[in-house]
Amino acid sequence: MTNLILHADRLTKQYGATRALDGVSLTLAEGTATAIMGASGSGKTTLLHMLAGILTPDAGSVGFAGHPISALSDGERSKLRREQFGFVFQQGLLIPELTAGENVALALMLNGMSKRDALVPAGQWLAALGLAGLEERRIGQLSGGQAQRVAIARAQVTGARVIFADEPTGALDSTTSQDVMNALLHTTSGSGRTLVVVTHDPQVAARCQRIVTLADGRIVADTATGFPASGAAGTGAQS
Ligand SMILES: Nc1ncnc2c1ncn2[C@@H]1O[C@H](COP(=O)(O)OP(=O)(O)O)[C@@H](O)[C@H]1O
Ligand SMILES: [Mg+2]
Repeated sequence: MTNLILHADRLTKQYGATRALDGVSLTLAEGTATAIMGASGSGKTTLLHMLAGILTPDAGSVGFAGHPISALSDGERSKLRREQFGFVFQQGLLIPELTAGENVALALMLNGMSKRDALVPAGQWLAALGLAGLEERRIGQLSGGQAQRVAIARAQVTGARVIFADEPTGALDSTTSQDVMNALLHTTSGSGRTLVVVTHDPQVAARCQRIVTLADGRIVADTATGFPASGAAGTGAQS
C-alpha cells in the first residue's frame, strides 16, 4: 500500500498575472482515494490536469510509477493517458448520439480494439456499475446519475491505474452524488486503483482516505480522514 504511483515536485503554473500553482509537491500512494478541495480558482483543476499529463508545468515535475511524465513526447504522453489514466468530469462528456455501451467501448476502440470485442468488457463494466440492461440506451435517455456511471465505466474499461475526476458529482443532487461516489470508490480504491477527485462536497471528500486543500495555488492542508480504502485487500484487480 506504500507503492507511490504519482509524484508531483514543486509544480508551478502562471497564467498572466495569476499564479495558478505556486510550488505544489504531492505524492500519492497506489490504491488510495484522494480528494482535492479548495475555493473556486484555487488551482484544483490545474493540479489535476498536471498530474494527468494534460498540462505541462512551468517549473517542477510529475512522475508516474517512477517515470517523469514531463520528459515524455506528446505522443508518449497521450498513449500514457489513454492506457493508464481514466477521466471523469462534471458533465460526463459522453457522446449523445452513441449508446451507453458504445460510449464505454469507444475508449477501447481508441486503443485499437474492434467494436465487437470492445462491447463485451463495456457491458461488464456497465453491469458492475449497476447499469445492466441499459447498454442500448442513448445518453439522453439516462438520468444524470446514470450518465455519470457510464462516464465512470468509460474511464475504467481500459484498466486504467489512475482515475482523475473533476467535480464528478457537481451536477447531481446529494442522494445521487452519494450513489455515484459509492460506485466510483468501489471500482477504484476499493479495487486497488488510485482515485484523485476534485470536489466541493465535504461528504464526498470524507469518503476518501486523504483530503488535500488548496488556496491560491498552494497546499494549505493535507489530512488523513481515517476512512479505509474499502476492500483494499484485493489489490490485484487490474483487469
Ligand atoms: N487557461 C487559463 N488561462 C488563464 N487563466 C487560467 C487558465 N486556467 C486557469 N486559470 C486561472 O488559474 C487559477 C486556477 O484555476 P483552476 O485550476 O481552474 O482553479 P479551480 O479548479 O480550483 O477552480 C484561476 O485564477 C484561473 O482563473
Ligand atoms: Mg476547477
